[in-house]
Amino acid sequence: MEAAEIGNSPAIVVKDACFEWSPGKLALTSCSLEVPRGEFWMLLGTNGSGKSTLLRLLAGLLRPHSGDIQIQQPVGFVFQNPDCQLVMPTVGADVAFGLVAEKLTPRQVHDRVAEALDLVNLLDLYRRPIYALSGGQKQRVAIAGAIARHCEVLLLDEPTALLDPDSQLDLVRQVRRIVTERNLTALWVTHRLNELDYCDGVFLLDRGEVVDWGDPERVKARLMEA
Ligand SMILES: Nc1ncnc2c1ncn2[C@@H]1O[C@H](COP(=O)(O)OP(=O)(O)OP(=O)(O)O)[C@@H](O)[C@H]1O
Ligand SMILES: [Mg+2]
Repeated sequence: MEAAEIGNSPAIVVKDACFEWSPGKLALTSCSLEVPRGEFWMLLGTNGSGKSTLLRLLAGLLRPHSGDIQIQQPVGFVFQNPDCQLVMPTVGADVAFGLVAEKLTPRQVHDRVAEALDLVNLLDLYRRPIYALSGGQKQRVAIAGAIARHCEVLLLDEPTALLDPDSQLDLVRQVRRIVTERNLTALWVTHRLNELDYCDGVFLLDRGEVVDWGDPERVKARLMEA
């Protein structure tokens, strides 16, 4: 993995990445894709096609067995189930937790946390216990954690899977707005075709490789016909 300063090149470059969880069982087979800087792309594919494996490789949680991955740093990762990543008792403390490795004053930490919570419209819940949040609010706390760390790339693994249709669209609109305002790059995994209306491009993964990519409307039409 290159912790890349890669000029104006794409924020994410994957070239022929292969990964197997166990010998002979390839989860990714020669997977290649590029996400331009400042764009919001979505990743679709049937269950088991390798979406979560690919996101873990991009986040540096796994290494490809062959091939090459370059990704702009820092990377923020939002898991499908926010209970897997919210570790502190309150909203403010959880967002601040990701900043412990940075040498910031308490004032700087407070300002970063408040700014990130404001972006996801949760500032009024700063002192709220995590257990008292809805699923959608937990997702937004996880996203605020990545934003507080000033991530350049946001990876989101089915962030709307647990949400009702209204909360689902609220979240995708909010992330769309944040990506644009902050000039971030995002890769968002989903099974829900109505979310494609908010992205710049789509990758379709099948059995561990990208089999189609590009314009969201075209890919959506192809999937609706299938
Ligand atoms: N921790 C693991 N150990 C062994 N095999 C795994 C592990 N995680 C995933 N796999 C296997 O790798 C393949 C790809 O799984 P992955 O979770 O990446 O798919 P996915 O596209 O995210 O699916 P879904 O839509 O169900 O989330 C599957 O065959 C799966 O069983
Ligand atoms: Mg998955």
